[in-house]
Amino acid sequence: MTQALQTWRIDAPGQTLVLGSDGGVPGALYWGAPLPAGDDLSALAAATARDVTGGMIDALPALSLCPEAGNSFQGQAGLVAYRDGQALYPRFKLIETDGARFVCEDAEAGLTLTFTFAVEGDVIAASTTLTSRAEISVHHLAAPVLPGPQMGAEILHFSGRWVGEFQMERSPWRAGVLMREARTGRSGHEHPPLAYFPEQGASNTQGQVFAMHYGWSGGHVMYAEELPDGRRQIQWGHATGTRRAGTQFETGKLYLSVSDTGLNGCAVAFQRHLRDHVVTWPHPERARPVHYNCWEAIYFDHDFEELKAIADRAAALGAERFVLDDGWFGKRDDDTSSLGDWDIDPRKWPDGLSPLIDHVASLGMVFGLWFEPEMVNLDSDLARAHPEWILGPADQIEGRQQRVLDMANPEVRGYLYGKISAILESHDIDYIKWDHNRLLPVADAAQAEGIYALMGALRAAFPKVEIESCASGGGRIDAGILRNTQRVWLSDSNDALERLRIQHDAALMLPAAITGSHVGPRHCHTSGRVHDIHFRAWVAAQRHMGCEMDPRELTDSETEVLTRVTTWWKANRDWRMSADILRLDAADSSVIAEQQLAQDKTRFVVFAGKADTGRQIMPRPLRLTGLEPDAHYEIELINREEAHHLSRREMPIKDGPLTVSGQILMQHGLILPWSFPDRMWVIEGKRV
Ligand code: DGJ
Repeated sequence: MTQALQTWRIDAPGQTLVLGSDGGVPGALYWGAPLPAGDDLSALAAATARDVTGGMIDALPALSLCPEAGNSFQGQAGLVAYRDGQALYPRFKLIETDGARFVCEDAEAGLTLTFTFAVEGDVIAASTTLTSRAEISVHHLAAPVLPGPQMGAEILHFSGRWVGEFQMERSPWRAGVLMREARTGRSGHEHPPLAYFPEQGASNTQGQVFAMHYGWSGGHVMYAEELPDGRRQIQWGHATGTRRAGTQFETGKLYLSVSDTGLNGCAVAFQRHLRDHVVTWPHPERARPVHYNCWEAIYFDHDFEELKAIADRAAALGAERFVLDDGWFGKRDDDTSSLGDWDIDPRKWPDGLSPLIDHVASLGMVFGLWFEPEMVNLDSDLARAHPEWILGPADQIEGRQQRVLDMANPEVRGYLYGKISAILESHDIDYIKWDHNRLLPVADAAQAEGIYALMGALRAAFPKVEIESCASGGGRIDAGILRNTQRVWLSDSNDALERLRIQHDAALMLPAAITGSHVGPRHCHTSGRVHDIHFRAWVAAQRHMGCEMDPRELTDSETEVLTRVTTWWKANRDWRMSADILRLDAADSSVIAEQQLAQDKTRFVVFAGKADTGRQIMPRPLRLTGLEPDAHYEIELINREEAHHLSRREMPIKDGPLTVSGQILMQHGLILPWSFPDRMWVIEGKRV
């Protein structure tokens, strides 16, 4: 017997979610643009009722927050679980709710499902918990399941690889399931846990868009399914089969955003949410320091005198943090040994790291150190002493000659905590670069839980130490890891051209303050390309800026350019590190452009990257966004001295600031001078 329909609404900036239940698991009656306050939700329920016809069963099985196979739901069920080898088909009843937490029970099966919703900044965070009286195996448990937009034409999801992160994929909505699954034990380069669901005609700056991000680092699954009856559902959960048997299971948090200003509305909601609600900043009073990392300068070849000379040059360029990368511990002369042996190598550092740290401090920089805690080489004292701490079979295929420690084992965590905290206690260390360079031999959710526990313990003991999440570049970027870290190493690619694209697409989730970006060597080590220092410097300056090359390779003129751009970055970081990144719709396919808009909207900077030679001879206008149509803005091409002599014609914008209305900038757009490819125009704007 069904009961009268009950309804609840959850409102966040830009979105309303309406849930309804007739006694069973609640389901979303509406998810979209904000509904008027006090709107009649029973009328909404009446308006959203659906028919049935021939070839169907006699009622539509509910597309609830956890669609139930036991309720004849013919698509992907929200829970797939087994007890004693038998599949479970529970039927849940809603037993308790306060409008944000919904507890549902199948008393006979001894199962309880709890759905939790919270508003965090501009996003809704949703998660599911399952408890069972007796031990069960859970193959799949979905975070609260929501309907996919009926007006959506396609699904934007992401793939990627080492030095090629955040590649946008476009798939049409069509019958059946689009499934994305990260089975590598990391959120991964291959399947970043992010998807956008634009309605027809939406672009970066216009139209209705829905977006979701699953905040979990251990591997996830997404199903975007169109059912035979035309309804669409979107599910996210941990990667299938990665949970150990037990009685309590929790999904990651699923973050929801809705926009009527194109992809940018959702991108900005996610950027702000990560920056202002997920990350805990150890030094909120301190500006983001300009970063220097020595990896591509010296690799494993540590020499105190060389590093001192490099630090001198880095500080002169404007660096404020110096990071010593891989190679300082064990007997690590290459990547075949010593992971796990977290003691300073006395061969390379006879007097320890303190002399370098002191030198770095004398230059006014703070110091950071690289670790890869979860990993072990078989050629290490740790592996020899504790082979039983290694995850997976003995005859597994290695990755980068290394194996993975079982982070679910408290003894392993205790060992790592002891080693890392000993280094942190005895040295003035401001920063850890926390790396993770191989895929798991067996993906296991307990591994990610163990990592969170270790990171959490270290964060509690050393709250002033910042952590960067690196996994061969951007292999572990998600809100789960960002609860304990403050920066991501977005990519091992320091190729400015590739980075321009990667940063642009990663901005659909990542704010500038969290996204590390470094000026690499003149000859890029991962692509072989040679890029001009202007381009390299401006691309790094788009995000949390740093350098990662031997600064002694710079010519005087390169040094001058890099110092100038770094000085500009510092002068503008206070407002830019909290600005919104708005991707621009470029009519010119050779242009990758964004506008960083200050929170108070009184100033902005446009980075217009030229990623290719244009199809047409002259640049097309570039439309700005998010400005006040009636306001006037002084705009200035701040790097106009970079214009090439083939840009032959006088243009007012090449001579100095112009004052233009917001409407002109947004409707006609800016026309920039002609340029070579692999260049960046930088335009500052201020409301007058
Ligand atoms: C992979 C990282 O992505 C690099 O930046 C560097 O830290 C190396 N590991 C060190 O082994």
